[in-house]
Amino acid sequence: MSLTFLGIELAHPVINGSGTFDAIAARKVFGDALLERFPFSAFVSKTITLAPREGNPPPRLYETASGMVNSIGLPNKGLEGYLAHDLPQLAQLPVPLITNVMGSTGDELAQLVEACDAREEIAALELNVSCPNVKTGLDIGADPASLAAVMDAVRPRTSKPLIVKLTPNTADVAAVAVAAAAHGADAVSLINTLRAMPMVGGEPWLGARTGGLSGAAVRQVALAQVAAVAARVDVPVVGMGGVERSSHARQLLDAGATLVAVGTASFRDPAVGGRIAEDLGRKSAKSGDSVATAQPHG
Ligand SMILES: Cc1cc2nc3c(=O)[nH]c(=O)nc-3n(C[C@H](O)[C@H](O)[C@H](O)COP(=O)(O)O)c2cc1C
Repeated sequence: MSLTFLGIELAHPVINGSGTFDAIAARKVFGDALLERFPFSAFVSKTITLAPREGNPPPRLYETASGMVNSIGLPNKGLEGYLAHDLPQLAQLPVPLITNVMGSTGDELAQLVEACDAREEIAALELNVSCPNVKTGLDIGADPASLAAVMDAVRPRTSKPLIVKLTPNTADVAAVAVAAAAHGADAVSLINTLRAMPMVGGEPWLGARTGGLSGAAVRQVALAQVAAVAARVDVPVVGMGGVERSSHARQLLDAGATLVAVGTASFRDPAVGGRIAEDLGRKSAKSGDSVATAQPHG
């Protein structure tokens, strides 16, 4: 099931969802066994911001009957900390590295992208656009015009592939995807988490009041949004949301995704991504598929 995605050779179509697999911590726990059997064909970093962030006040996680709501709040060491401390460790992984970045203005994102462009350890960039625009307060990725302006600031700053991670918290995700592609995105990825508010004892449970719902509960939302986006754009789509086994990954591929990401399921079993990839490979060998080439389909 090897494939070429935006010019990057991948052994199979299963990667991780940003922020859901800590490869540095996993290496400490599993040692070199992690490198020998790395579960994903590329590794996506958690979101990096220009300045360090502490994240949201606790509690930050709420388990639902069929998923979880998190309000982690993107804690990270900031760009300098990432480049100095995390990048050298992530560069030792046996797969290409995709760095996920977020900024609240085009200028902030452009600085992040330019700094990453200079690092050859980074194969591609993912822009997390689920971030409020400082002027409007609306998520950059919720509005096609706002995203187009950000892409115009960012695109000239890198020749590396740019994947735009769309937010599902918008009226028309396909319209946002069309704007991203028209303004230089090489691929889009979706879905990010859905805004949610768990209540316990008459009060919002999470320290930040609201968080993002992920896992099995969002699977069919992801399928609907991936299908809607794939029908409207010519760039490859990375599909995610509730993938727990290979049949779920297959559904996203059938809905139009080129790659599939595993997120919440890795918290229960960090090896699940590898098993999904193996299983997909076995099933596609049986049905006669061989090597796929994922270039923009159009
Ligand atoms: C605990 C947690 C942390 C996350 N952190 C990030 C992040 O840093 N950046 C990002 O773009 N998405 C982040 N996500 C969203 C996931 O990458 C993914 O888009 C979403 O969870 C849907 O996939 P899933 O249902 O398989 O988890 C996070 C999700 C979870 C559950």
